[in-house]
Amino acid sequence: MLGAIYGLPEQMEEAVRLMEHTGAKFDASLVQTIVVTGLGGSAVGGDMLRTYAGDKCPVPILVNRSYTLPSYVGKDTLVIAVSYSGNTEETLSAYADAKARGAQIVAVTSGGILKKQAWEDGHAVITVPGGLQPRAAAGYLFIPQLMLLQQAGLLPEGHAEIEETVRLLREMRKLLAPASPTEQNLAKQTALRLYGKIPLIHGAVGLTEVIAYRWKTQINENAQTPAFAHCYPELNHNEIVGFDVPQELIEKLEIITLTCSRNHPRVQKRIEITAGEVLAAASCGQTELAALGESDLAQMFSLLYLGDYASAYLAALYGLDPTPVEKIEYLKRRLAD
Ligand code: F6R
Repeated sequence: MLGAIYGLPEQMEEAVRLMEHTGAKFDASLVQTIVVTGLGGSAVGGDMLRTYAGDKCPVPILVNRSYTLPSYVGKDTLVIAVSYSGNTEETLSAYADAKARGAQIVAVTSGGILKKQAWEDGHAVITVPGGLQPRAAAGYLFIPQLMLLQQAGLLPEGHAEIEETVRLLREMRKLLAPASPTEQNLAKQTALRLYGKIPLIHGAVGLTEVIAYRWKTQINENAQTPAFAHCYPELNHNEIVGFDVPQELIEKLEIITLTCSRNHPRVQKRIEITAGEVLAAASCGQTELAALGESDLAQMFSLLYLGDYASAYLAALYGLDPTPVEKIEYLKRRLAD
């Protein structure tokens, strides 16, 4: 897992090369909505696309994590079906639904049934390299979706942003990789803060909400620990009330707040007041971590990268191998029986 995390910048570059030569196309002039359908590690790229594209794409993007698609999906919808393994039953079912409704379909996968079916049905397939855990393939799964929309003119050209992101992650890993000692390694320091605690990750609408959720799921899957996520400003209207009792549970919480320079100024003010005043007397721990980089993409990936490393180090602190996800595989086997 640590090797896969280290390789994320190269993974992104490889995905760019792959997309420069892809034949995967769709008719953008027909597209009124975009639905990315996938689960788990294969859905996160869709979450990031939706977030990134929010203020840039002329048509709405929805991420679907279900067996079926929303009722508005039809011929004017682009459905991007994403499954790293190509064998996730919910995604295969949603793919069949998209096909039945005559949607334009692009599959993003490393193989499996999805690749075979999409190929046989004559739909575009973007085949990414296999051999990783899906959650460790964020570069392979996100960049193709981004570039697909850029190449179709639904998003502005963004090569410079991708380059900045790759450069930034390469810089970051000098300090975050295993060889870098704890004193200068923010990921190791964060893992130590989370050790023995229940992580509660706070993001904000805009760029960090989906990254907070990614942290939660990476901590669940890599460190095999319960973790939760919520986002500003919504959490100011409910969650903040719930830090009084029971004391012995509140003490077990460690709040990590992810911030970025793109936050709405009122949201930033809310974070300051919540952390500094409203929750100051709560018995849980609190840490704020800021995104690095300039562009939206770099800021999102900088926090994702830190969370990926921190969750793998948390697994190490618990003496666990961060890679296998036996419970997910058991459930898939039982459902296939
Ligand atoms: C495992 C992981 C899972 C899978 C999910 C869907 O590393 O991240 O969340 O992504 O079970 O499987 P795929 O991605 O193959 O469609």
